[in-house]
Amino acid sequence: MDILIFGARGDLSARKLFPALYHLDSCRLLPEDVQILALAREDISLEVFLNDLKERVRRYVDDQRWSTEQWEAFASRFSYLCFDFRDQAQFQLLAERLAPERTAMFYLATPPSLFGPICEHLGAAQCLEGDRRVLLEKPIGHDLQSCIEVNDTVARFFPEEAIYRLDHYLGKETVQNLLVLRFGNRFINTQWDQSCVDHVQITVAEPIGIEGRWSYYDSVGQLRDMVQNHLMQLLCLVAMEPPNSMTAEGIRDEKVKIVRALRPIDAANVRDHAVRGQYSAGWLRGEPVPGYLEEEDCPETDSRTETFVALKAFIDNWRWAGVPFYLRTGKRMPEKLTEIVITYKALPHNIFAQAGRDDVPNRLVIRLQPNEGIEMQMVSKQHSLKNKMGLVTQTLNLDFLGSSGLDRIPDAYERLFLDAINGDQSLFVGREEVEESWRWCDGLIEAWQENGLGLQRYQAGSWGPTKGELLIEKDGRSWHA
Ligand code: BG6
Repeated sequence: MDILIFGARGDLSARKLFPALYHLDSCRLLPEDVQILALAREDISLEVFLNDLKERVRRYVDDQRWSTEQWEAFASRFSYLCFDFRDQAQFQLLAERLAPERTAMFYLATPPSLFGPICEHLGAAQCLEGDRRVLLEKPIGHDLQSCIEVNDTVARFFPEEAIYRLDHYLGKETVQNLLVLRFGNRFINTQWDQSCVDHVQITVAEPIGIEGRWSYYDSVGQLRDMVQNHLMQLLCLVAMEPPNSMTAEGIRDEKVKIVRALRPIDAANVRDHAVRGQYSAGWLRGEPVPGYLEEEDCPETDSRTETFVALKAFIDNWRWAGVPFYLRTGKRMPEKLTEIVITYKALPHNIFAQAGRDDVPNRLVIRLQPNEGIEMQMVSKQHSLKNKMGLVTQTLNLDFLGSSGLDRIPDAYERLFLDAINGDQSLFVGREEVEESWRWCDGLIEAWQENGLGLQRYQAGSWGPTKGELLIEKDGRSWHA
């Protein structure tokens, strides 16, 4: 198999793609015949490319996996091609390197505006004979219209079974464990609907700011960068019906039904259901940090791009009628925290009230980072002769659900590369899902525009604007973290 990485000198390639391939290789999971062709604009030799890559990859590879010997074996799989992705003539050269009898995987780690042109050039240069797969990094488009255009163009050259749309959140181990937890355990599965669940929270918080990607990020904002894809996927996995089987079609069909059932947030309800924020200067871990408009590479501007979003969403179907899903995501928040919290309804009658005990709801916490794991908050009796019915809230660690004896949890990109190599699309996003998700997000963006955008400032290092707290507190609930 040939793996071709378009955009091989980019940040994503150095931080995620090559370390993932290196780890697979070090676990002997990369098939022996895999050759990697790195394509980028810089006119450098393979030696210079590899020297530079070695230094960059080393930072992201676990110490216990790193050895010069392993690196050399990995490096021997590489070739490098200085390449202009817009120049048709260069694709002719590429065609000469590709043998129709070998499978080729084109990984487009490029801006989405290049997805269409690259596919057209690959087609015109006859690079697509044989088993050909294309991997597309998010975002697919900028809105519904551009997403359809990208999907249409790619579909002219690749059948849907050969298109792998990545959302790296789907490759995270705990996200897959969520499916097993829900659909492999009867007692969880039977307590998973509006009769038992009070509300669901999904938080994806990051302490980082814009990290040198200001101009890209400013044209996108947190809704398009995080909600349209990562949070939407988490929401779907929490809310979807059990698929018939774990096939890609089965899972995608169920996920897309959830996106379609999401109640639109429009001009009439946007003020009550959505909050947009942008960070101003503040403090993180004892250090001062600049505001969004003072970031190093920010030009002079009064940009109103959001770096924080909080939403109250409803899924209008039988299972979830009336259950709010509170979503929150932001940059420059106090810590890295990604978690899904299911809060159960109170019992019909609290028989421990006389013992002075408030009704404390059960909670299931599915944490993706840090410390991936699953916890259940339950009430139990304290061992005591004096205090007969002294109750305590216990946090039960359900980590054994994911125990595997592995010395490390594999990175999401390792799972996704391996699945793409094996032709398994179940953790990749289908065309309909991504388009329906844009349809919903476009409606929300329009509603914000009609309402003058309503941008709230929040201090870097805080949990977002006060309105983000009020969004949930006015319903008598509060954010878990
Ligand atoms: C990317 C976003 O898709 O996900 C980034 O473009 C974000 O803005 C990143 O920082 C978060 O990924 P993770 O795996 O670190 O939570």
